[in-house]
Amino acid sequence: MSWKPRVVFLDGFAGPGRYEGGEPGSPIIALESAKTHKAKLSEELAFLFIEERKDRANYLSKEIEALKCPDSFKTKVECGEFAPTLTAILDKLAESDHKLAPTFAMIDPFGFAGIPFELMKRLLDNPNCELFVSFMVDSINRWLEHPDPAIPGHIRDAFGNDEPFAVLGSNGDRAAELTELYRKRLGTIARFVRSFELRDKNDRVVYHLFFASKNRLGHLKMKEAMWKVDPLGDFSFSDATNPDQQVFFKRAYEDTLKADLVRQFDKMADVLIERVERYVEDDTAFLPKHMREVLKVLESEGRVCVAEVKSDGNKRKKNTYPADRASGEESGPSRIANACEIKSLNHPPSTRVHWIANASAPKDW
Ligand SMILES: C[S@@+](CC[C@H](N)C(=O)[O-])C[C@H]1O[C@@H](n2cnc3c(N)ncnc32)[C@H](O)[C@@H]1O
Repeated sequence: MSWKPRVVFLDGFAGPGRYEGGEPGSPIIALESAKTHKAKLSEELAFLFIEERKDRANYLSKEIEALKCPDSFKTKVECGEFAPTLTAILDKLAESDHKLAPTFAMIDPFGFAGIPFELMKRLLDNPNCELFVSFMVDSINRWLEHPDPAIPGHIRDAFGNDEPFAVLGSNGDRAAELTELYRKRLGTIARFVRSFELRDKNDRVVYHLFFASKNRLGHLKMKEAMWKVDPLGDFSFSDATNPDQQVFFKRAYEDTLKADLVRQFDKMADVLIERVERYVEDDTAFLPKHMREVLKVLESEGRVCVAEVKSDGNKRKKNTYPADRASGEESGPSRIANACEIKSLNHPPSTRVHWIANASAPKDW
């Protein structure tokens, strides 16, 4: 495979591609989504599938062949273990002074063996690489004290240190502590980390998914995707990044976000919507559209006051909450960081749209 593709989808524990009942596995879902993607991607897309079992790797190769992918798709199935296979690829790239192309790495093992933290770090050291890891916190919790030293060894490897064993002395919720610990560990190598939980109808956590990235846009896109996931029958799906503020997708979220925004901004006299939006994008499970809905409620309740005139001098339309930007800037994460403090921009407050938590508008608005 040539390593000059524009975008890489890496599936580190790929499986056979299709199961006995005909259900597609992650490799086929990824390829079919790319084939039918509305963006009509013309860039070269590379798909690297790593699967340790030969029978599954062979089956996957046949399934991929049957899909008849376009020429711009480069697919490769590597039969081998994830960590050594990927390490060899990264070593080869480093030897030839190349960086990995922007990569979405899906890491979906059965258990917790073979996902060394050092390798996650190495992946995230490449610009625009993102990780999506399913993490078996419950099994880690159960196997922490296994007499076979290889098993705690895999746990140490996954966290990259001995910290997980400290929960053995805890009287609290050990699984929750391990989840928080892994989130913190990923936070040492990525700016954006989110953890998602799938729970069954008895409210038991079935599994955790972690997303880690250094890229604002990648983070936002992942959140948009999560908000689109339909609840699966008796299952509920939630963002559990902040243990004190679990966000259940599709359930009423207004109160959570409302309380969060008030907590965050009520000490400030006035705040640009851009700044609120940036907080929502980067540091919460929510999207800008949720912020706008909440601002509408807060404004109708008289709990915030929003300037009527935008920075361009035009009147703001009722119930709209435009985030101010320097001209020519796109909405979303590409716009300039921190261009939000009124003082630093030297704009009089009346030319901007403000969010006022104490609900008393300046006289000149
Ligand atoms: C949970 S399944 C993956 C399912 C896949 N993501 C899907 O949606 O169909 C894990 C797969 O990883 C393979 N596997 C286990 N250990 C591995 C390793 N160290 N390296 C690569 N593959 C491994 C297993 O044979 C199995 O097919």
